[in-house]
Parts: sequence; C-alpha cells; structure tokens
Amino acid sequence: MAAADNGTEQTDRSMSLVVRRHALVTRLTHWLWALALFFLLLSGLQIFNAHPALYVGQQSGFEFDNSILSIDATRTADGDVRGVTTFFGHGFDTTGMLGVSGPVDRRAYRAFPSWLTVPSYQDLATGRVVHFFFAWVFATVFVAWIIASIINGHLRRDIVPSGEDLRGLPRSVLRHLRFQFDHGRRYNGLQKLSYAIVLLIFFPLMILTGMSMSPGMNAAWPWLLDVFGGRQTARTIHFVIMLLLVLFFVVHIFMVFAAGPINELRSMISGRYRIDREQRQREAGR
Ligand code: HEM
Repeated sequence: MAAADNGTEQTDRSMSLVVRRHALVTRLTHWLWALALFFLLLSGLQIFNAHPALYVGQQSGFEFDNSILSIDATRTADGDVRGVTTFFGHGFDTTGMLGVSGPVDRRAYRAFPSWLTVPSYQDLATGRVVHFFFAWVFATVFVAWIIASIINGHLRRDIVPSGEDLRGLPRSVLRHLRFQFDHGRRYNGLQKLSYAIVLLIFFPLMILTGMSMSPGMNAAWPWLLDVFGGRQTARTIHFVIMLLLVLFFVVHIFMVFAAGPINELRSMISGRYRIDREQRQREAGR
C-alpha cells in the first residue's frame, strides 16, 4: 500500500483506492447522537405513557375536543380488556402492542409496552431524568456538529444539496428504485437531501419543541411557545418528528446494509472508505 499526496492510499486489490471519507468530528458526533437518540426515544415513550394522548391547540383535557391521538385500554361488553388507539376520531384495536400488552396471564395496561420504554416499568420521574440528560447530550453534540461542519466545510460540501444535486434527484430516485445505489466518497443527491432534512430540519425542530415544553424556557423565551402554537401543539410536533426519525432510521439502516455494510460502517468508524475505479470515474463526471 502506498500513500498518495491527496489524502488517499493506493491499494493493489483490484485497483481500488482507500480514501479518507469522514472527519473524526463527523464520526464522533454521529455515534454520540445515535446513542442519545436511542435513550431519548425509549425515555420519551415512558414520559408519553404518563398521559397517552396528543392534542393540537393550547388546551388539553377531557372537556376539550382537540385530541388527535390517544392510546387507551377499554373494557368490552363481554368483560375483555382491549387496547384501543384512536387517531383523528377513528378507533383501532391495538391489543398486544398499544394500550394492552404482555403475556395473557400478566397483562400490562399501558400505552407503549414495557420493552419500548426506559425504565421498563412505569416510572415517570426516572424517565424524565434519563430524557433530560440525553437531551443535553444531543443538543450539545448537535451544536458541536454545526460549528465543526461550518469550519471544516462538511456542511457546504457534503450536506446542503447543490442545484445540480437537486436537478439530478429524479435520476437518483430511479437508480435507487432499481437498487443501484451510487454510493461513493461524496454523498449523492438523495443522501445529501435526506441528511440535510434530518440534520437541518428534524434535529433543530426536535430541540426547539422540546425546549418550548420546559417551564423554565417559557419564562425566558415566551415567544418560543407562540411560534409552535402552544405547549400541546409543540408536544404533538415533537412526537411526529420522533416518528419521522424512526422512519429515517429504518431506511438508513436498510441503505447501509444494501450499499455494503463493511465499507459504509468502516467509513463511519475509522473514516476510511474503499472506492473502485468505476466509482471514481462516476464521481469525476458528477
Ligand atoms: C438514530 C440513529 C441515527 C441517526 C439519526 C443517523 C443519522 C445519520 C446522518 C445524519 C448521517 C450523515 C452524517 C454526516 O455526514 O454528518 C449518517 C451517516 C451514516 N450513518 Fe447514521 N444515523 C443513525 C444511526 C446509525 C446506525 C445505528 C448505523 C450503523 C448501522 C449508522 C450508519 C451510518 C453510516 C455508515 C453513515 C455513512 C453514510 C453513508 O454513506 O450514507 N447510522 N447517519
């Protein structure tokens, strides 16, 4: 293996190159927020279980008709208890997963099942401690990522899609539908767009809606609550972003495995990425 002068190492294996793809700060922040989001999700569902309903507007409670989602356990006429999830007024039987879960002889009557919450038993106080700890980790890591990515050019070069990336999107979507992933040293247009949406829209929205639910922040920045249309709407947006992040996560993991997990994971762990002659030619023409 011989070092080249452009940050690459030539290897003789089928004329491929090992290039430096991700900076240390990109890798560190990626794994830190993956860890933080894991605990934020499970502790967030624990907190949701304490009041398993979502509203739009300023008010919440039995006397208001502004609930858009609720997860309940209700007794049927024959004495059976079923889990019912109501979404925009339509009820669905979700017994086994939402509302009522666990083995038949040890039924748990809770919105999200024990295997999806931290701690697994109902404990709002501990759920809040875990959630707020990882919320600070997540927000600090995000600010560090923004500053570092502006300074080292990662944001401009790899995340914000250029006009050319956007024009090439329909072609990129078609290629992905044919399972031709076109992953290389630089993100393709679809990768850039999806990461930009997650990093520059979902993450800030998650942090800001979280902050607007804190009484301390309401006193310091009362305008924040107005921006999101009140605490209940902020809570609903927070929940919807969580669902979108879970969806992103499923597609993200699928793509990592479909595009070649060893090479992709190595680039996010050690920063080194193997690129073959064909990919190099494609990237040069991009
Ligand atoms: C909630 C969890 C996760 C989120 C929100 C997330 C988000 C992201 C984002 C935004 C990027 C681009 C980062 C940048 O360039 O600055 C990225 C890249 C990457 N992530 Fe994740 N990630 C998560 C979990 C994971 C996990 C569990 C794996 C491993 C199985 C993984 C593997 C990778 C890899 C290999 C890349 C390089 C990407 C590529 O070539 O497209 N991620 N991730």
